[in-house]
Amino acid sequence: MDNIVLKLTSLYTLLLLLFLSYKPALSFSSRHSQYWGGERILSSGDNGDLVTNLPGQPRVDFQHYAGYVTVNETNGRALFYWFYEAITKPEDKPLVLWLNGGPGCSSVGYGATQEIGPFLVDTDGHGLKFNNFSWNKEANMLFLESPVGVGFSYSNTSRDYDQLGDDLTANDAYSFLHNWFLKFPSYRTKTIYIAGESYAGKYVPELAELIHDRNKDPSLYIDLKGILLGNPETSDAEDWMGLVDYAWSHAVISDETHQIIKTSCDFNSSDPWRNEDCSQAVDEVLKQYNQIDIYSLYTSVCFASTARSEDQSTQTSMKLSSKMMPRMLGGYDPCLDDYAKTFYNKPDVQKALHASDGHNLKNWSICNNKIFYDWADSKPSVIPIYKKLISAGLRIWVYSGDTDGRVPVLSTRYSLGSLALPVTKSWRPWYHENEVSGWFEEYEGLTFATFRGAGHAVPCFKPSNSLAFFSSFLNGESPPSTK
Ligand SMILES: *[C@@H]1O[C@H](CO)[C@@H](O)[C@H](O)[C@H]1NC(C)=O
Ligand SMILES: *[C@@H]1O[C@H](CO)[C@@H](O)[C@H](O)[C@H]1NC(C)=O
Ligand SMILES: *[C@@H]1O[C@H](CO)[C@@H](O)[C@H](O)[C@H]1NC(C)=O
Ligand SMILES: *[C@@H]1O[C@H](CO)[C@@H](O)[C@H](O)[C@H]1NC(C)=O
Ligand SMILES: *[C@@H]1O[C@H](CO)[C@@H](O)[C@H](O)[C@H]1NC(C)=O
Repeated sequence: MDNIVLKLTSLYTLLLLLFLSYKPALSFSSRHSQYWGGERILSSGDNGDLVTNLPGQPRVDFQHYAGYVTVNETNGRALFYWFYEAITKPEDKPLVLWLNGGPGCSSVGYGATQEIGPFLVDTDGHGLKFNNFSWNKEANMLFLESPVGVGFSYSNTSRDYDQLGDDLTANDAYSFLHNWFLKFPSYRTKTIYIAGESYAGKYVPELAELIHDRNKDPSLYIDLKGILLGNPETSDAEDWMGLVDYAWSHAVISDETHQIIKTSCDFNSSDPWRNEDCSQAVDEVLKQYNQIDIYSLYTSVCFASTARSEDQSTQTSMKLSSKMMPRMLGGYDPCLDDYAKTFYNKPDVQKALHASDGHNLKNWSICNNKIFYDWADSKPSVIPIYKKLISAGLRIWVYSGDTDGRVPVLSTRYSLGSLALPVTKSWRPWYHENEVSGWFEEYEGLTFATFRGAGHAVPCFKPSNSLAFFSSFLNGESPPSTK
């Protein structure tokens, strides 16, 4: 008897829960009164995406949410996100969208759980450890797996995967934002920034431009204030020239190889590799880099990584298509990619993050090589977009870890140099904890800064410095130029 009552009671509870959590998207706003008697209750409540039982998660006082947002109903495209409200006073802090690159790599696997999120994947692949330098100390942080085919994001129409490129990525990310606001209406009018690294050097300005253009329609207005870019791919010709000059100036290749590249490569041509001398010399650069971690010249590589055997072909593709190589062996601990794969493929983790029901699992990997190889549409340069965004008055900050060989500081200097912006504050050091953290220079409409001794994914190497820098960016103040 007791048993039946218990069962009925729990069935009733279950139905009630289902009923409560099932609401059509548009009715959410009614449940989002944020304040009652001046006291904060919940900033977004449980809209169905609240994460409550994440295995191995450290106890925290802020809410975080994960799940899918449909971006195209006809074809059944849905993007996966993980969103962390700010640790304190989320209502007073801006919203920051973070994107990783590839193309084909996961912002959840890299950005959220290796770089700047509050929970970092622990080295056993089972737990999470709290990140004392999480960027959600300063902002509400939204991590998006984009485009479809990356991480948990998917399409029900398989031919969508054959059309992936910059344009589709920007358009789907744009739809994502508007549909995400339906789940989080209190963020609809917030100030927003977009940040990212690596190939997101293309994604971020492209999305910012789309927002800027669509903002002409007041009903679509998004309060975008600025963009922040780390070791960003920017302009293919300048990026390639920077890559080879950096390899030479950091003693990775010989004078002879460098000289051949200087005389035979025209990185501005649509197919620089048609020149055999150029092609062979660039192969030599990549061959030398294949021995070390191109993303962090002075740290060790992860020999255990299963990605290693795939690396060679990836580099060939990188040369032939001049696209970003998936960041397989980067980061402070180059084995972290493997831990992340273990973690995100656990049934209880997928269930807690609303990525799957915990039975029919999704096959998560940190980068999708097929996406990388098949990338159909890549803008050769986003410098024209920089010009447009600068004249629109957006805040643009670009930073560079100076031990990255993949998108090295020289590439960024060549790219930004082509803008020929007037200098407003000359080159000088910026400080963190009484040390030179790097150098910076301010231009009309753009700030450029370096991180001394940091590789490609800067926050992995300099977490405390990165958080301080992020805070300066959000406040629109120069990085500290006194000790
Ligand atoms: C959905 O995606 C398809 C293919 O990318 C596109 O042709 C169509 O216009 C999209 N539908 C909407 C409503 O955006
Ligand atoms: C994709 O298909 C599955 C199975 O039919 C369905 O449950 C899901 O809602 C679809 N996704 C989208 C975004 O339409
Ligand atoms: C985290 O930072 C706070 C101050 O910002 C410090 O008191 C605390 O010891 C740090 N915790 C860890 C584990 O480093
Ligand atoms: C590519 O061409 C542009 C325009 O002619 C020029 O300013 C730039 O320096 C060239 N870049 C390289 C790497 O040759
Ligand atoms: C998951 O993907 C990997 C390659 O990305 C593949 O080798 C493996 O067989 C897949 N596993 C499942 C269960 O689909």
